[in-house]
Amino acid sequence: MPSSDGIFEFKGVCGAILGCLCGYFSQGVRMILKDKGVFDINRIPSVIPVRNNLIEEIVNKIRLSEVYRLFISGVTGNGKTSSVKRALEILGNEIIPVYINCSETNSYTSISKHILEIVRDKPFSEKGKNRDELADELKRMLLTKRTKKLVFVFDEVDKLIEKKDNHVDIFSPLLNYGKVSFILISNDPNIFGKMQGMLRSRMQLEVKMLSAYQPGDILEILKQKAEEGMIEGSYDIETLATISKFSSDIWGDIRVAIKLLEKTAVITEMLGKDKISEEIIKEAIKDLQMSEIDKVFPTLPRHLRWVVVALCLESRKNNGFAVTYPNAYETYGLLAQKERFGKVGDRQYRAYLDDLEMLRLFDFQWKPAVNRRGRVRIAIPKFDFESFLVGISAE
Ligand SMILES: Nc1ncnc2c1ncn2[C@@H]1O[C@H](COP(=O)(O)OP(=O)(O)OP(=O)(O)O)[C@@H](O)[C@H]1O
Ligand SMILES: [Mg+2]
Repeated sequence: MPSSDGIFEFKGVCGAILGCLCGYFSQGVRMILKDKGVFDINRIPSVIPVRNNLIEEIVNKIRLSEVYRLFISGVTGNGKTSSVKRALEILGNEIIPVYINCSETNSYTSISKHILEIVRDKPFSEKGKNRDELADELKRMLLTKRTKKLVFVFDEVDKLIEKKDNHVDIFSPLLNYGKVSFILISNDPNIFGKMQGMLRSRMQLEVKMLSAYQPGDILEILKQKAEEGMIEGSYDIETLATISKFSSDIWGDIRVAIKLLEKTAVITEMLGKDKISEEIIKEAIKDLQMSEIDKVFPTLPRHLRWVVVALCLESRKNNGFAVTYPNAYETYGLLAQKERFGKVGDRQYRAYLDDLEMLRLFDFQWKPAVNRRGRVRIAIPKFDFESFLVGISAE
């Protein structure tokens, strides 16, 4: 007869083996994500649902027009960049595409260098060249006869136009020499108001305002992501529709919807379940909101935190947006009055708003002022500011 110790030892070994086997099976059977790359929001998918017609139209107009000039605007995360990039990809070798992200490249020198390098397909050293010499190089390049069309894309063009000294020098040669097509992209539909008047009228841009993705659009996009990135049977259309509706109501930004689906799948895997469910979506939403604001907020400088709270309080008053100046600035001033040196000046305050835009916590737009002349800059929280305020007041 084996001793009781022996039995325990035996049970222990069996348990360990079973545990390993279960672990193996749970990993094998309960894997949900088959390709994480599908959820990479920096990736331009080869199939872009909802924007097919737009892409086709851009491709055709570039092919058929001698010069094509387009301005695309609309809220963040509604497929502007992806659609234009995809159109360029489809045109492939038929054109010479020059894509410029103006939030990264926005000085006269860096843009000229980039254009010259891409079009000539070789490195260009701008060292020791002054602005006139660079302008001459550009002019020569633009006047060179070539069979392929030049197509320039200025993405986030507001970042260039707001640097007032640059944009005229950059766009003028493109309008004056050769036949150049270009596409300007911006979240700010009113950015033309800031463009130099003469330039604006010479541009003769076709304007396209892309609306935010509706729940049905988001569903279509998520269906594609799920088909490509998740294993069959790990999702159903109803749960995808729940994610779409929620994302559309709260954020309207497709990036968040995609992240929410990915997070839901990751949590489902971690729980060892084989299908995403409404309960898990709720968990993922909490986690996502946590990562959006609750994780960043404690890392911000003290005054910037007061600015966030002020913008949220103002957004609550206006059903989802805050007038940044003077309203939110005044509210911030009230919140910060107990601080040792009081509130920061309005210049630092504006720098804070830029930080918040960079952190993608808020969207900024211009809006006609109510009861006042001119326009006001508004901030729209990209997170659930009501829950955030509740959380803050509980602390
Ligand atoms: N119709 C779509 N189908 C599939 N994926 C999409 C679609 N639209 C957007 N995406 C995904 O969402 C990401 C963000 O989209 P995109 O960069 O085109 O938005 P945007 O409108 O340019 O946003 P922003 O205004 O912030 O620059 C893309 O990288 C892509 O992965
Ligand atoms: Mg974009």
